[in-house]
Amino acid sequence: MASCTELVKGGWPAHRNALMHFHRSGTGHGLRAQRAPRDLIYRAELGYMSTRIENFRLHLICERTEIGHAWSGYRGYLPRQMLDLIAPDFLQREVFCCGPTPYMRAVRKLLEEAGYDFAHYHKESFGATPEADIAVAEEHAVEAHEREGAAEDTYCVPFKESGKSTRVAGGVILHAAAASAGLTIPKACGMGICGTCRVKVLEGKTEMAHNGGITDEEIAEGYVLSCCTKVTADVSVDY
Ligand code: FES
Repeated sequence: MASCTELVKGGWPAHRNALMHFHRSGTGHGLRAQRAPRDLIYRAELGYMSTRIENFRLHLICERTEIGHAWSGYRGYLPRQMLDLIAPDFLQREVFCCGPTPYMRAVRKLLEEAGYDFAHYHKESFGATPEADIAVAEEHAVEAHEREGAAEDTYCVPFKESGKSTRVAGGVILHAAAASAGLTIPKACGMGICGTCRVKVLEGKTEMAHNGGITDEEIAEGYVLSCCTKVTADVSVDY
């Protein structure tokens, strides 16, 4: 999942364009946090930007590293010490933060403890699964349970890491299936572009219709974008 914190001196009108405005408003630090190096989306593009915009500093943080993926950046979560190294004057900066709820909470707590003035804090939360999605998923789950006796076109979807499981009708979107099991997979674009909702399918067949948010290598390794993947068989998911 992609989480991003931007620390900027001076202001600008539209924070989603923040990276493009660094050259006008003083040195900016872009922090991108991911689970592992392979999860970093737009890594090459961000690296390229950092070579083209003189006062844009890019900092990549991964919670963990994996065999086969070189990594020389920061590791772990974002503690105060890391923030002090990245931007010692962060208390005087505008902060733009976006990401899943746990990440947003952690950044907020860190800033609160440091005495940050939240008049200069801006956020965009990926938020929880929309209620409409949950309602649809629950409806499908009820239908699936009703049809379970006939065992026709209903599939079991266990989520290994959380130990939760659900049964859904064929064709249900994997993200909605997770919601019906009480799980919130982070989601942003909802249309297979951003890669935020990526999960690994350990076993079973699915059908994905993405819009470029996942690479062929990732697909070959079993990853899917849960927002645009249909359950078409019993599937076991690493989540
Ligand atoms: S939420 Fe963006 S690809 Fe699924």
